Amino acid sequence: MEIINSESVMADEWLRFLKNSNAQTETIRKIDFTSEIPIIYDLDGRKLSIDFIRDKGNYQKKKGSIKTELLSKAMGAGRVGRRVLDLSAGLGIDAIFLSQLGYQVTAVERNPIVFLALKTAWNQLFPAEQSGIEFHFGSAQDFLKKTTEQYDVIYFDPMFPEKKKSALPRQEMIIFRELVGCDTDSAAVIEAAIESKLAQRIVVKRPLKAEPLRPKPITAMTGKLIRFDIYGGRLDTGN
Ligand SMILES: C[S@@+](CC[C@H](N)C(=O)[O-])C[C@H]1O[C@@H](n2cnc3c(N)ncnc32)[C@H](O)[C@@H]1O
Repeated sequence: MEIINSESVMADEWLRFLKNSNAQTETIRKIDFTSEIPIIYDLDGRKLSIDFIRDKGNYQKKKGSIKTELLSKAMGAGRVGRRVLDLSAGLGIDAIFLSQLGYQVTAVERNPIVFLALKTAWNQLFPAEQSGIEFHFGSAQDFLKKTTEQYDVIYFDPMFPEKKKSALPRQEMIIFRELVGCDTDSAAVIEAAIESKLAQRIVVKRPLKAEPLRPKPITAMTGKLIRFDIYGGRLDTGN
């Protein structure tokens, strides 16, 4: 993997981070640190970068309200509280949207290269570590074990299975999928979230027609293409 503008302090710090985190970089040709948002290129020249400011389609959605947005309704529309632990930060789209709706979000991402893109985009918005969303690097399972905080809702949105017949997704989705693969441990993450008793509600995003990742959600909320399965974290006995 090639680093462009290796003179930059940011490139240096992130290179150290990638080495320490044993990042799998085989699918990545280069990371370009020339501008304020690093751009990640795969072997076929596809690009991935996260830009909270310029990517208005993903990050400045027409604002709904905490009461009417399906994602927020699944979270309890603020009634169960507004502290959210997002165990699958990914591109940060849901985390940013929830924070725009008034939730306090802590978001965890385990893929080092996705985390690099996410954190540098966030630092561009908030260079001085101001409040807003907290992004953490690491696995959901480790975070659940070590956090000393309590949350109102835990949110989990693992990778959807690839649809064989669908048109090829956008180039960002292809490179994103190359990087993170399939989240094969998702059911275990939900179990760990329930067992942690850190939140009274656990919300899991699924494709509309897919089986629940863990049997018997207490309820589900459906949209046109997706469904949110809801489990009761503090109340759930697994029966
Ligand atoms: C479908 S994407 C999430 C998209 C995100 N909700 C958004 O709005 O951009 C799934 C992400 O969750 C991360 N992930 C999945 N399982 C995880 C786990 N056990 N611990 C930490 N991150 C996880 C993956 O690396 C991937 O980046």
